[in-house]
Amino acid sequence: MALTEQQAAAKVMVALDKPDAEAALRLAAQLEGAGCWMKVGMELFYAAGPAVVRELKARGFKVFLDLKMHDIPNTVRGGARSITRMGVDLFNVHGAGGVAMMAAAAEGVRDAVEAGDSEASPIVIAVTQLTSTSQTTLNEEIGIAGTVEDAVVRYAKLAKQAGLQGVVASPLEVAAIKGACGESFITVTPGIRPRGADVGDQSRITTPYDAVIGGTDYLVIGRPITAATDPAAALNLILEEMTQA
Ligand code: C5P
Repeated sequence: MALTEQQAAAKVMVALDKPDAEAALRLAAQLEGAGCWMKVGMELFYAAGPAVVRELKARGFKVFLDLKMHDIPNTVRGGARSITRMGVDLFNVHGAGGVAMMAAAAEGVRDAVEAGDSEASPIVIAVTQLTSTSQTTLNEEIGIAGTVEDAVVRYAKLAKQAGLQGVVASPLEVAAIKGACGESFITVTPGIRPRGADVGDQSRITTPYDAVIGGTDYLVIGRPITAATDPAAALNLILEEMTQA
């Protein structure tokens, strides 16, 4: 059944890749009430810290904290505790850290909730292969053999084994991930480009329409919205495209 605009908005995570809180909150103000999520990544978080996350939460947005943790399990567990206390709704770690590291992230969430530092448990997902990674980069630079899809599905299975709830991947890999890990295993997919938009540095991309058809749970969209002269209008066009799927 086709999505309503509201259901479509609840699937969109806007990548707030801005250099400071002022620029980020100016953009957020233009999207307030739209029903979309905000994704806070390294550029913004390293400049503005937890305060900007709290401000976005106060303005009614759900927040995905995209810091892609990748460290020894003990450090990731502590990081996950701190992130959980911040009150984010979803965060991620790198699948490349292995099962013990991913499980440590889930333990960090439990620690914080059990200690009464947070009422809600954020969803924890794993990054599989960055959507900017091409087949050549994977095989010839990183040195992983096989197809990108093989590598992504392997990480997805490890993430599930570690007790995580989903993965970040390309929309092109959603069917294979759901096939391997089940329909309820969450897929968060960057690399979305509306028809005619600039591809930029992304490599494994698709349109919002095709992402919805492909069964992705959340669409991460940055520059097509954030670099638009009218971000709210750009979001609306994307929502319209999603409702046609
Ligand atoms: O501007 P664009 O739509 O390409 O933004 C995509 C966002 O998704 C960026 O914030 C990028 O860091 C993030 N991301 C990604 N690929 C991943 C994980 C996160 O592009 N695998």
